[in-house]
Amino acid sequence: MAVVKVLDALVPNKIYHGDSRQLLKRIERESIALSIWSPPYYVGKEYERDLSFADWQKLLRDVIKLHFPIIKPGGFLVINIADILCFKDESMPKIMAENISRRKISLTKEDVIDVKQQHPDWNRYQLAAYFGCSEQTIDRRLNGNNIRGGKYQLQTRIYLVGGLIESSATDAGFYLYDRRLWVKDAAWENSRWHTISYRSVDESEYLYIFWKPGITKVDRSRLTKKEWVDWGSRGVWEIPSVRSNSDHDSKFPIELPRRAIKLFTDPDDIVLDCFVGSGTTALASLSEGRRYIGIDKEKQSVAIANAAVQSFSTYQKGPEQMEFMLRDLEAFYQTQ
Ligand SMILES: C[S@@+](CC[C@H](N)C(=O)[O-])C[C@H]1O[C@@H](n2cnc3c(N)ncnc32)[C@H](O)[C@@H]1O
Repeated sequence: MAVVKVLDALVPNKIYHGDSRQLLKRIERESIALSIWSPPYYVGKEYERDLSFADWQKLLRDVIKLHFPIIKPGGFLVINIADILCFKDESMPKIMAENISRRKISLTKEDVIDVKQQHPDWNRYQLAAYFGCSEQTIDRRLNGNNIRGGKYQLQTRIYLVGGLIESSATDAGFYLYDRRLWVKDAAWENSRWHTISYRSVDESEYLYIFWKPGITKVDRSRLTKKEWVDWGSRGVWEIPSVRSNSDHDSKFPIELPRRAIKLFTDPDDIVLDCFVGSGTTALASLSEGRRYIGIDKEKQSVAIANAAVQSFSTYQKGPEQMEFMLRDLEAFYQTQ
């Protein structure tokens, strides 16, 4: 008779190293009040190196499906993602002629490469300081394969991600409950950043909110009156993106999971993030008195998330302490 190895269930208040597609199967059924995460966006990041587009779509589908048994009835799955993906497609008609008033975009890839050759030991932060731009701009110029970099080329096909997310969640048994728009960079440098097309600068992302059928308690006391007015009932959340992401290059601001946690959970509930990255969701959970489970497949992310969580325990709970803690963490990252 075959021996079936019973794997230990994941316990709360831990960050786990591994692939979500394996580890989600080890979470206790109907134990998660809220799962909130931001997956790989398929924009050429290091942690996406092994994925084809088909693999990426399957990853999202599989992970969403694995959520259904572990979310509590009446609980929520919130997925944060940019809605537009870009692909070079030389078979498509050119979407416009060359722009006759073509402006030279001030910083080119060649500019960055030139300076990098002169200073091979400079990282993107030092390059950004040299050019007076953000480190993301340097990354985009060098890697050129993400959303902002690719969208404006003449033969770039645009793909909406929302359809894939919605159909995967619906097929898994969830119902689309709501959608919020996260406006990231209200003024940012976008006002100075002009494209050579009529396409806009992407400065927002979505939060797709799915509900697992069951009883959902609607408790107006979870937010203050002011919070309901400012964001609780609002479809648009204006939250600046994380500008200095020296620890992890795609972290979301802590305010994002914090709002979802406050809205959709009670103290002591378990919040899951199966793409936890630098541990932002874990920190937001702790700051709101919730428990968390974090998962990431990169060792480095797990180390950073653990450091973040440990650092939290040296401070009192509460958002006002958070700022001090984040500053402390920033100092820690500089030493890594
Ligand atoms: C967009 S980032 C999430 C950032 C996070 N929200 C934060 O604030 O730091 C996506 C993360 O998913 C992780 N990841 C990618 N594929 C994974 C998989 N199959 N299982 C678990 N983690 C994965 C990556 O290592 C990366 O840290």
